[in-house]
Amino acid sequence: MSGPVTFTLDGREVEAQEGETIWTVAKRTGTMIPHLCHLDQPGYRPDGNCRACMVEIEGERVLAASCIRRPTEGMVVDTAGDRSRKAREMVFELLAADMPAREASPDDKAQFWTWMDRMGVKQNRRYAEGPHEPAQDQGDQHGHSHASQIPLRDVTHPAMAVNLDACIRCGLCVRACREVQVNDVIGMGERGDHALPIFDFADPMGDSTCVACGECVQACPTGALFEKSLMDEDWRTREVEPDRYVDSVCPYCGVGCQTRVAVKDDRIVQVDGRDGPANENRLCVKGRFGYDYVMSPERLTKPLVRRDDAPKRGDIRVDPLNPWDVFREATWEEAMERAAGGLGSIRDTHGGGALSGFGSAKGSNEEAYLFQKLVRAGFGTNNVDHCTRLCHASSVAALMEGVGSGAVSAPFGAVDDADCVIIIGARPNQNHPVAATYFKQAAKRGTKLIVIDPRGQEMNRFAEYALQFKPGTDVALLNAMLNVIVEEKLYDQQYVQAHVDGFEALAAKVRDFPPEAMEAVCGIDAQTIREVARLYAKSERSIIFWGMGISQHVHGTDNSRCLIALALITGHIGRPGTGLHPLRGQNNVQGASDAGLIPMYFADYKSVENPDVRGMYEDAWGRQLDPQRGLTVVEIMDAVMEGEIRGMYVMGENPAMSDPDQTHAREALAKLDCLVVQDIFLTETAWHADVVLPASAHAEKLGTYTNTNREVQIGRPAIPLPGEARQDLGIIIDLANRLGLDWRYDGPAEVYEEMRALMPSLDNISWSRVEREGAVTYPAKAEDMPGEAIIFTDGFPTKDGRGKLVPADLVPPDELPDAEYPFVLTTGRLLEHWHTGAMTRRAKALDAIEPEAQAMLHPRDLTRLGLAAGDAVTVMTRRGEISMIARADRDVPEGMVFTPFCWVEAPANVLTNPKLDPYGKIPEFKVCAARVERADA
Ligand code: SF4
Ligand code: SF4
Ligand code: FES
Repeated sequence: MSGPVTFTLDGREVEAQEGETIWTVAKRTGTMIPHLCHLDQPGYRPDGNCRACMVEIEGERVLAASCIRRPTEGMVVDTAGDRSRKAREMVFELLAADMPAREASPDDKAQFWTWMDRMGVKQNRRYAEGPHEPAQDQGDQHGHSHASQIPLRDVTHPAMAVNLDACIRCGLCVRACREVQVNDVIGMGERGDHALPIFDFADPMGDSTCVACGECVQACPTGALFEKSLMDEDWRTREVEPDRYVDSVCPYCGVGCQTRVAVKDDRIVQVDGRDGPANENRLCVKGRFGYDYVMSPERLTKPLVRRDDAPKRGDIRVDPLNPWDVFREATWEEAMERAAGGLGSIRDTHGGGALSGFGSAKGSNEEAYLFQKLVRAGFGTNNVDHCTRLCHASSVAALMEGVGSGAVSAPFGAVDDADCVIIIGARPNQNHPVAATYFKQAAKRGTKLIVIDPRGQEMNRFAEYALQFKPGTDVALLNAMLNVIVEEKLYDQQYVQAHVDGFEALAAKVRDFPPEAMEAVCGIDAQTIREVARLYAKSERSIIFWGMGISQHVHGTDNSRCLIALALITGHIGRPGTGLHPLRGQNNVQGASDAGLIPMYFADYKSVENPDVRGMYEDAWGRQLDPQRGLTVVEIMDAVMEGEIRGMYVMGENPAMSDPDQTHAREALAKLDCLVVQDIFLTETAWHADVVLPASAHAEKLGTYTNTNREVQIGRPAIPLPGEARQDLGIIIDLANRLGLDWRYDGPAEVYEEMRALMPSLDNISWSRVEREGAVTYPAKAEDMPGEAIIFTDGFPTKDGRGKLVPADLVPPDELPDAEYPFVLTTGRLLEHWHTGAMTRRAKALDAIEPEAQAMLHPRDLTRLGLAAGDAVTVMTRRGEISMIARADRDVPEGMVFTPFCWVEAPANVLTNPKLDPYGKIPEFKVCAARVERADA
C-alpha cells in the first residue's frame, strides 16, 4: 500500500493511512478486536501468530489476522460476524484448555482473562487432556511440560516468577527482550507445541544474563512471566490487587522514565512504564524493581538531635536502626529551633559566608529553587551547590563557554535520525539503560556506533568501532580526530564561517596532534583514529553523547571542549540527528542546575556577579544578596577544615559517601559547629549531624523534574509520608521563616510559578500545562506549541550568536600509576545500584542481585597477583584502603581496577583523588594510582 486507502469496516467506509493494519484502523475508529500476541505499544511489531484477532474479508476463503493484515482499496472487512467471532472464541477456548484453571493461573487479571470476560468465553475442558498439576520448580524433572524439556517453573530470579504452564507461546516476551529493550536474553527453545521461552541457553532466569528490565513481564498477556511482588508466597498465583494507580516519573536517572505506580493499602506493590517521551513504556531494573526503599524500616520517621554526650568524630559509624547512643528523638519544634538557632547564630556572628548548603539533584525543581533561595536570601551567601559538581560541572563549564548553554542540544531520541553516533566516557547500559535501548535499536537499523571508553562494555557488541583507549588520554585521542578532520578538510567551512569563532587557533593547536604521534599516547592506532574521524565528519548527521568518563578528570573541561569542537567544525549540531548531549546522571540534575542550585549562577545560569541580574533577584526576593560567587562542594569541605565555614544545611545529599577523599570529607563534616541534615535515611552524612530532619521520598511528593532531554515532567505522590516525616518543601519554608524570611506558599505549583517568572527558559510552560501534557520540553515558543527538542538551529545563545572553539592541551591525570601504586583505580556505578546506594541498597530485589562490594579486575591481573575471583582483596591509594571481593571482568583493561562507589561497607571515595578540574571544579574520580593486595596479606 502506498498512501491512504479507503475500505469498508463493519459497514462503514474508513480510511487507512500508510502502514496501518486492519486492527489499528479498527481501534482508531472505535472497535477493539481481541488480541494476544499483538501489543499495541511503541516498539512492538505485530507478529500474527496467535489468531486471536481474526476477521472476515469479503471474497476470501480463510479468515485473516487483523493485526498484520494491511487493508487494500475497496476491501470489505467484517469484524463482528459469526464466523470470525466463533473462530476467535475457539482460539481462546483452545488456549485456555492448555492452561491452569483461572484461579490457579499466575495472574487471573491478565489480559488473556480480561479478553475471555469481554468475549463471554468460559474456560472449559472441551479440548483439554486432563486436569493440570501445578508445575514444579526448575530442576525437578516433573516440572517439564509433557512435550518439552524446558522446565515450566522457574523462580530463581529475585523479582520475577516464570510459570510457563500459563504460556501461550505468543512470543511477546521474545520481542520485548530482543527488539524493544535489545537485550537478547529470551528466545524460543524447541519447536512447534514444544516451544517455550528460554533464557540464554535454557538457563535458570536468575543465573542468566537477564538485566531485569522487566519488559517481558510488562508484555506477557497471561502472567506466565510475572512480578513476584504481586504473587502469593510460592509465586504461583496473584495475591495482590492494587487499589489505585498513580502516574509519576522514575526517581533514579536522568532518562526520566514515566511510571505508573500501583498501590495497595498505601504501599507500592508494582511499577510499570508509561508512554512518556523518553521511555515509551520502557523501564530498567531500578525503575521497575527499585521502589521499595521508600517503605524500608530504616526510614527516618521522627526528628533527631545529637545527644550532648555524643561528640562528633569523622570516623564514627551509626546503625540506622539503633542510633540511640548518638541521637535522641525530638519534637519538630525542638529540632527546627535547634536547626534555625544553630545556623542563624553562625550567620549573625560570623556572616553568611560562614554558612553553606548542599541541595539535591533528586529533589524537585521547586525544592531546588527554594533551597537556593533560602541559602542566598536567608543565609546571605552563594555557598550553595549539589552533586552536579561531582558529575557534569566540567561539561557545563565547557558548554557555557562554547555554545552559551549548559543543556543538551538534542534529546537522546535524536539517534533515530542519526547516521553516526559517538558514545564516549559513558556506559548507557548501566547508567542510562532506557536511553541505551534507543542506541541499540539505532545500531540494529544501520546507524554507525562509535563507542570510546577505557573499559569494554555491552554496547561494544553493537558498535562499528569500539575504542578502548588509555585512561586519561581523552584529549590526545580527540585532538588527533580533530587533526584528521582539519588536515583532510572534512570540516564544514560554510558552517564555521557562519556560526563559529576560533577555527584558526584550533587548527593550529591540533596540527601538533597527528594520529601517528598520538597512537602511543592514547593506545589507539593511527589508522583507526583516522577512520573514526572520517566516519564522524563525513556522515550526514552525527551526534555525540558523553558521560562522566569525560567529565570526572582534572582535564574534564578540556575533554568537553574537544567534543564541542568536533560538533562545531563539522556543523553536526542544530539539525535532526546531530548534536551534543552530556547524559545527565540524577533524575533532576538538569532541573536543579537550571533552578540555580549552583554557587556561581542564579536560575538559568545568570551570573551572581552580574549587578543587573542580582538587582532583579534582590527586587524579586526583597533581600540584599551576596555579590560574590560561592564555593563549590569540594571547596566547601576545604573551607570547613580551614575554619571559614562553620555551618551547613544538607538536603538529600550524601557528601560523606560521594565526595572524593572521604576521610577528609567526614573530618570536615565532624568539624562543623552546626550540621543540619534533611533526608529520608540516616545517611553517612547524617551520622555527623546536630539535627536530622525526616523528609519526603520521591514517591510521597508532588513536583516537577527535568530530565536529560530538557523535558519537564510531573512526579506525583503515591503513598503517604511515614510517621512524622514532612514534605521537604515544607521543611525548607519552615526553616526560612525561622531565619527571618516571610514565606507563604500554597504548595509546589505556586513555587513553580514564582520560579518560572524568573526563568525565561520556562516561558510558556506553566504548571497547569505540565500537569495537562505530562511532559513539556523547554524552550517552548508558545503555550500551544510543542517545546523545541533540537536547539541551536540558527546559531547559539552567546553574546554574538556564534559558537566559540577553545583549543585544549594535553594535561595528564593528576596521579599516575608508579612502582608503589601500579594500578589505575577508576570508579563508577553498577546497573542495579545508584550513586551512593542510599536508595538501591535498601531495595530488596536490587540488593539481592548485587549484594556485596566488588573490585573488578582483568583475569590476567588476578592471576599475576596470585588471586582468584571471589577472593577478598584490599585496594589502597595514598588516601586510604578498603576491602572487597575480587571479581574477574574482561571489560576492565589490564592494569586497572574498577569499583562502584555505592558500597557503604567499602566506600570507594576513601580512595579517590580530590584534585579538581580548574574550570568545572569537578574531582578526578576516574583516575588515581592504586595498589591491590589479598585482603589478609
Ligand atoms: S511467557 Fe508470556 S509473553 Fe512469553 S510467550 Fe509465553 S505468554 Fe507470551
Ligand atoms: S532508565 Fe533511568 S529513569 Fe528509566 S527506569 Fe531506569 S533508572 Fe529510571
Ligand atoms: S493478535 Fe493478531 S494474531 Fe495474535
